[in-house]
Amino acid sequence: MKIAMIGTGYVGLTTGACFAKIGHEVICVDNDSNKIETLNSGKMPIYEPGLHDIVKEMVTAHRLSFTTDIKTAVHNSTVCFIAVGTPPRGKGEPDLAYVENVAREIATSMEEYLLIVEKSTVPVQTHKWIRTTIERYNRTGTPFDVASNPEFLREGSAVNDFLNPDRIVIGVESDRASDLMKEIYKPLNAPIVITDLASAELIKHASNAFLAMKISFANALAVVCEASGADVHQVTCGMGMDKRIGPSFLDAGIGYGGFCFPKDLRAFIHIAEELGYDFKLLREVENINNEMKLRFIRKIQSVLWNLQNKNIGVLGLSFKPDTDDMRFAPSIDIIAELVHKGAHVRAYDPKAMERARKIIPGIEFCSKAEDVAEDADILLLLTEWSEFKQLDLTKLKKRMRVPIICDGRNMLKRTEIEKQGFTYLGVGR
Ligand code: UGA
Repeated sequence: MKIAMIGTGYVGLTTGACFAKIGHEVICVDNDSNKIETLNSGKMPIYEPGLHDIVKEMVTAHRLSFTTDIKTAVHNSTVCFIAVGTPPRGKGEPDLAYVENVAREIATSMEEYLLIVEKSTVPVQTHKWIRTTIERYNRTGTPFDVASNPEFLREGSAVNDFLNPDRIVIGVESDRASDLMKEIYKPLNAPIVITDLASAELIKHASNAFLAMKISFANALAVVCEASGADVHQVTCGMGMDKRIGPSFLDAGIGYGGFCFPKDLRAFIHIAEELGYDFKLLREVENINNEMKLRFIRKIQSVLWNLQNKNIGVLGLSFKPDTDDMRFAPSIDIIAELVHKGAHVRAYDPKAMERARKIIPGIEFCSKAEDVAEDADILLLLTEWSEFKQLDLTKLKKRMRVPIICDGRNMLKRTEIEKQGFTYLGVGR
């Protein structure tokens, strides 16, 4: 199938490259000429495990190309995915201007039947506006369909998520659109859920909101565990074995971050409000998430007393492991508060240092994980990168002023840490 992917951000690039990998011919389009130049010179604008190899392989196989020219891409395609950004505006409502612009450009470029697919995360009913826009600007009356195909890829495991999805959601209005979408995904041999367009749009927001709710539930539970002497990890393991609950997304810690959950939750609350429903449950999910960062700071103060002039070593900055993405990472707010309270912060992250340097002022960045321990009064673990499990604790301890570890991701084993003579603080344990 010939596919145009408009928007070569994290979603568009991963999906486009993976579509090529499963046998399609894909043209990825972006209006950012620097990004297209980077991609055309064989470099990647983001870090995502396994993606660079697929891009290289598919470009060489002539199944993947990059351009700023939307017209050529549309002319050469049967299916055109819209995967442009929908960034939050003032009250969290998504900015759909990019989606509208692209729909308009597609409409004026179409010459033959085209299936236009929403890939970007958009409010329910957006498909109606896309259809109206295409109808308005498609002066030649070229036939088209609109479909919704939300993405469920996680950063850090996006390639694997694409190739092994739990389900593929397709919202369609015609058999022709349904057949084309099924053909695109056929090589994956995965379960396909066909719905109407509004339901497909809602499945995306509802899924992210539900996952965020699970995390906030685990975090609220962690507070109760700490107060009662229980261990949140043991509690969630026990809960998760019930198939109705499931074990995933129940890890307590310093809260969720990233560009999806915070943004999508805000957007969903706003969408519900516009539709006349106050989704109080989700507002509380947000409150709990924000509170976890404050509680973490209080925990640090409970062992260090004053933070003024204390040396704090930070391991991990990205919003989760295996990504260099710093957007809405809990580390940003936590470090800002530590610096505000007068602490001297040394930080290290395996992949996110370059991005972190641009957004976290007033701290020292170290080129090796061990160096954050130099004269430290406490070590904070803010992202659960697996390499932190291999750290030589004896060496770290020698370099620290006071051997305390505050594990914001419950990644380390308390008994092992304590055996090495450290004071260990986790979340909810
Ligand atoms: C999330 C969804 O998981 C994807 O299905 C969705 O496609 C994507 O958003 C999106 O809408 O584009 P992502 O933001 O990449 O994916 O990352 P997750 O793995 O879901 O983690 C999100 C945050 O939750 C991270 O900060 C992570 O540390 C935190 N988290 C996750 C917890 O605090 N506890 C958990 O048990 C799980």
